[in-house]
Amino acid sequence: MPIFDLSDKSPSLLGRVVAVDTRRVTINVEPARLPHARVGKLVAIRTANPVEEWLIAMVDRVQRALAEPDRRDKDAKESPGPSGTTVLEREINSVVVVLVGSVCARKGTKTNVFSRSFIDVPDIDAWCYALEDKELQRFMGLLSKEAASTKALDLGVYTLDPKATAYVDGDKFFQRHAALLGSTGSGKSWTVATILERAKELPSANVVVFDLHGEYSSLSYASHLRVAGPDDIGKTDSTLLYLPYWLLNSEELQAMFIDRSEFSAHNQVMVFQDQVLASKRRKLEAIKKNDVISALTINAPVPFGIDEVMAALKELNEEKEQGERGMKQGKFFGQFSRLLVRMGAKLGDKRYGFMFQGPPDLQKYEALHGIASQLMDWTEKNHRIKVIDFSEVPADVLSVIVGLVARLIYQVQFWTPQASRVPVALVCDEAHLYLPQRSETDAPERRALENFERIAKEGRKYGVALLVVSQRPSDVSDTILSQCNNFLALRLTNGADQAKVKGLMPDSLEGFMDMLPVLDIGEALIVGDAVLLPSRVRITAPSENDRPRSATIEFWSEWARTGRTPALVQAVENMRRQSRRSS
Ligand SMILES: Nc1ncnc2c1ncn2[C@@H]1O[C@H](COP(=O)(O)OP(=O)(O)O)[C@@H](O)[C@H]1O
Ligand SMILES: [Mg+2]
Repeated sequence: MPIFDLSDKSPSLLGRVVAVDTRRVTINVEPARLPHARVGKLVAIRTANPVEEWLIAMVDRVQRALAEPDRRDKDAKESPGPSGTTVLEREINSVVVVLVGSVCARKGTKTNVFSRSFIDVPDIDAWCYALEDKELQRFMGLLSKEAASTKALDLGVYTLDPKATAYVDGDKFFQRHAALLGSTGSGKSWTVATILERAKELPSANVVVFDLHGEYSSLSYASHLRVAGPDDIGKTDSTLLYLPYWLLNSEELQAMFIDRSEFSAHNQVMVFQDQVLASKRRKLEAIKKNDVISALTINAPVPFGIDEVMAALKELNEEKEQGERGMKQGKFFGQFSRLLVRMGAKLGDKRYGFMFQGPPDLQKYEALHGIASQLMDWTEKNHRIKVIDFSEVPADVLSVIVGLVARLIYQVQFWTPQASRVPVALVCDEAHLYLPQRSETDAPERRALENFERIAKEGRKYGVALLVVSQRPSDVSDTILSQCNNFLALRLTNGADQAKVKGLMPDSLEGFMDMLPVLDIGEALIVGDAVLLPSRVRITAPSENDRPRSATIEFWSEWARTGRTPALVQAVENMRRQSRRSS
């Protein structure tokens, strides 16, 4: 049986090849056949290969032009020209297609093989056919068969042929980072849930979801961790994630406390770092961790006492020394006053309690073992998919904290002996919030970005992948997005965002990417090495009980409800005692 039953009598015949420019091929199409050509549709062009072989291409542009006037042409229409003359015009319709692969009847021992590569290019005058009905189904069937394997991640069906399952190569999808981009409400969170639902079936899956708004708290198969909020302080519960301040590296600590605009900032940094290092050393000496001491740096994730550091700063801040004419102010006198006030305020603020007011055990050397297991142990019940809820983290430290968690995961993975390393994927929802495109070098966001940039560049070697999810691709760091090799682009309405996404794609796909604003909800353009060809896919919705909860507040509907009473006194009191729990 031939691959395609197509001949120059077929109704799906488009026309002949008139120009070939590497991957772009121009087809001359009779006006009557033009309806068969639509952007995004697939076409087949027979090669001269004696074994049956077809080049597969995607329609990128459909254009109509008027040809040179030709008086002998009997199809030409008469139309009035300038100054009353009559000009004969002929309509020429051309369709530009982009080659995406080839199907060959025989390749080695295999029959009817689709491949992304092609050796032959079309001959001028070769016939070109639109792939429709039976032929399209046959091709999509080949494609699905080719892509279905143990590493296949089933995401949905092709829009072109809803009977054909759209698989992506799960290895390639995560190997070199992926991005999931689309306007608000286009279906990003649902797509994430569908991917998680597939991943959870794998016995050693290891996925960590950064959930900024508590949208994924309903997933039944996941383990849920929440960065402790003001109401949780004092509680110990394995679902609460405390991130003690001593996990912060020197830059992050500085971002937390030091105001660079102060004239004494330089001295503050210097003395602060000295004191932190000294305190870390004292703690390690007390438990005789000599091998750790010998490698100790300011950035080592080792407990220190912030109270000790503050006490030392206070002393220097008030120090007087003997001068020639009596006592005079010490070298740092008064330089740390504002720093100490800032530190005191942060340490006492319950919103930062997950760092400064955690249970006492978190000051122990072993505490990091527990945190690492909360974040990374996929063997515990429901731990293949871990959702970390950052919704209670104050906005001013959000990027530092998300960056910290990413860094911890990366570092633990880096230092895991290779034989017991299981790859981990980080799903970065709402990435524009902590991976911004523009950030000043001193801004706290810079710190988060550095952590993620390192993962983007080096994570592949150690099995750490990113799935960057955002509704504002134009606001997401270029360094991060340009490292992504696979893209799931859902509907995108904003021009700047469309331009950004197009800029990340090969030029040959420009026409294909023009579909971005017209995609349906839950429909995606998938491009990258994980798919056999750039495709428009209808993503399967996640199971009914495991759907992300939208964090969107419905103003109008809320306003439409009756019988509500304000609780303002309680709100004010909660504000004062920093707790939403009723007392
Ligand atoms: N694959 C899909 N199939 C059907 N409906 C979908 C799909 N994805 C999303 N939707 C609909 O769109 C809504 C918004 O989806 P969501 O994933 O929350 O969007 P986003 O995260 O992009 O803002 C969902 O509540 C659902 O009704
Ligand atoms: Mg969402």
